[in-house]
Amino acid sequence: MKGLVLSGGKGTRLRPITYTSAKQLVPVANKPVLFRVIEAIRDAGITDIGIVIGDTGDEIRSAVGNGRRWGVKISYIPQEAPLGLAHAVKISRDFLGDDRFVMFLGDNCIQGGISPLIEQFGRSDYNAQIVLKKVSDPRSFGVAELDDEGRVVRLVEKPREPKSDLALVGIYMFDHHIFEAVEAIRPSARGELEITDAIQWLVSNGYNVYPYVHEGWWIDTGKKDDMLEANRLVLEELEPSVQGYVDRDSQLIGKVIIEPGAEIINSTIRGPAIIGEHTRIVNAYVGPFTSIYHHCHIEECEIEHSIVLEYCTIRGLPHRLEDSLIGRNVEIGRSPLRPKAYRFMLGDNSSVGVL
Ligand code: DAU
Repeated sequence: MKGLVLSGGKGTRLRPITYTSAKQLVPVANKPVLFRVIEAIRDAGITDIGIVIGDTGDEIRSAVGNGRRWGVKISYIPQEAPLGLAHAVKISRDFLGDDRFVMFLGDNCIQGGISPLIEQFGRSDYNAQIVLKKVSDPRSFGVAELDDEGRVVRLVEKPREPKSDLALVGIYMFDHHIFEAVEAIRPSARGELEITDAIQWLVSNGYNVYPYVHEGWWIDTGKKDDMLEANRLVLEELEPSVQGYVDRDSQLIGKVIIEPGAEIINSTIRGPAIIGEHTRIVNAYVGPFTSIYHHCHIEECEIEHSIVLEYCTIRGLPHRLEDSLIGRNVEIGRSPLRPKAYRFMLGDNSSVGVL
């Protein structure tokens, strides 16, 4: 079997972070979501992986490389524009050949990996296997309707009035019949070739599409709050470890990971939390569900339930920073300048809440 990871697209819901970088490279518990996807595929025994890339292709190539570090072989498949998930399958035909394959959306995070799914599909004669998850509001996903015997009867992309609470998780398994389906369908109202429509085509044409209902957690990390939720869930599953320096005046409480080269000085870290390589935490409090990536400087402040990307400096805040996603190289601090005023340099679509 082969793996196909979709890492193109625009990432509009994560602006301004995605003005300058790929959404699939935003880290969850200090590891880019895309790396987690590659590891899940590798752990299921698949080593031949194609990654569909778009505008952010150069950044993805330089972050991922040839895959040797995971023991896999990565091929890149450029997509000229984000014309839809089924379009991504279409342009991957040469890479996929007639092999059965798993397609994994590069911004999806799932508990427990995909080994049992791949094993089940590998042993079966299903033409496709889809993964479903019960959600409270399915309107922003593909939605599946099953009949009384649990067979797939209908799939609709982002329905205004969903007929079931089963969302399509961004993990799909196909045999070569999917190529017939992607050739047969037409673009949707949003102008994309929808994989949901292609799977519906398989169902309507009598192919065997098997649904698997996932019981663990699943997050589509398209928006800030979803990123924070994925971060919370992954942090809760990590094993604590201290590989950096923690001085005698500091306290680590609960599940805390201190990565190599990090320094914790006169500070309290209450887990689950992770402090990245070469980050310094000085006279500060880092609270639960926080990931601070590498080479940051956090001083004289309190931060909780947040993700901070690399090379940030956060210093001297009079109130706690919470529920935040902070991009690369960001500086947040108090200004001694008079007149006293907020002074911002923010990208388009930034969002700031002041007290
Ligand atoms: O996350 C699950 C959902 O993913 C499913 O429930 C939906 O049925 C499915 O259509 C998809 O919906 P999204 O609107 O969330 O897809 P998004 O545009 O965010 O793209 C998903 C990933 O695929 C993302 O990593 C970008 C990449 N992509 C997307 C498009 C449209 C491509 O590589 N090429 C594309 O043309």
